[in-house]
Amino acid sequence: MSSQDIPEENLPAQDTEAHGSVAVKEDPFADPGLPEHEHRIQDIDDRAAKRSERVVAFLFTLSMLATIGFIASYVTLDVDKSVYIFPLGHISALNFALGTTLGVALFCIGAGAVHWARTLMSDVEVAQERHAIEAEPEVKAKVLQDFADGARESQFGRRKLIRNTLFGALAMVPLSGVVLLRDLGPLPEKKLRTTSWKKGLKLVNMNTNEPLRPSDIPVGSLTFAKPEGLEEHDHDFQTNIAKDALMLVRIQPENIKDKRELEWSHEGIVAYSKICTHVGCPISLYEQQTHHALCPCHQSTFDLSDGARVIFGPAGHALPQLRIGIDDEGHLAALGDFDEPVGPAFWERG
Ligand code: FES
Repeated sequence: MSSQDIPEENLPAQDTEAHGSVAVKEDPFADPGLPEHEHRIQDIDDRAAKRSERVVAFLFTLSMLATIGFIASYVTLDVDKSVYIFPLGHISALNFALGTTLGVALFCIGAGAVHWARTLMSDVEVAQERHAIEAEPEVKAKVLQDFADGARESQFGRRKLIRNTLFGALAMVPLSGVVLLRDLGPLPEKKLRTTSWKKGLKLVNMNTNEPLRPSDIPVGSLTFAKPEGLEEHDHDFQTNIAKDALMLVRIQPENIKDKRELEWSHEGIVAYSKICTHVGCPISLYEQQTHHALCPCHQSTFDLSDGARVIFGPAGHALPQLRIGIDDEGHLAALGDFDEPVGPAFWERG
């Protein structure tokens, strides 16, 4: 690009003050302008343009043939026929033919269009001028004048009583929303940290309502339990069972890997919260060979022989364990409450 093509304001400024001679000051932000236009071979050579035209036509024709191939494959190929394609192995011949022909048909249309645009369509460079987005000084003055007129006409400055009470009203309106927060209910306080379990409370079979003895829990079985005294017709049964529900399994003590788990068990019987630590589904599947408990909702899997740690799935925490023993009557009983909150989301609530 020659210097005649560059706008005058973008030419380097000339400094005539230094030593009376002409020194050139470089403008680091000068618009470099567009590079000199280079004509494509197709613009100056008719034979090259014809060649490009033929390439584009060839690609479009190939697309048509591929579409015919697609229809022919669909009509003629047996749905059960398979074909060996390296490295995919044996795959359905019909699927392969349909996918290949449709892919070729679409690709050729796209490639033809791109080649057409790059070699034959108009090759004019277009530059869009950018302008300052700031308003003209007259517009800014007019807006300020309108604002001042509006303030004067509303008598906002003169009527102080109205102005002050308006500020008061605007400041107090949001308080209504704050007051409504009370409807979210009382704060949970310690309720999320505790359950009904306490020292000496018997473990009762969830189905039969009978107190459990160690002999009721054979190796390999999964038993669900609740605290003695919690009845289905109780007013707060749902609230309590959502935290109290237990699952019991018996594992050969030598197979329990976690030392604390072994200490908190009784003759290999371990009691864990039945409430999944992901989003609170009741865990109901147990694999006796691996001692894995599985939550059916999102497949979180807990290893009951290793502190019920999570070995798969979205749950973020191991299941809480309840420390158990036997009471004077030989029934299984809690030796205290869980030592951590049960269930989901507690961790996110802090
Ligand atoms: S609730 Fe158990 S895995 Fe989601």
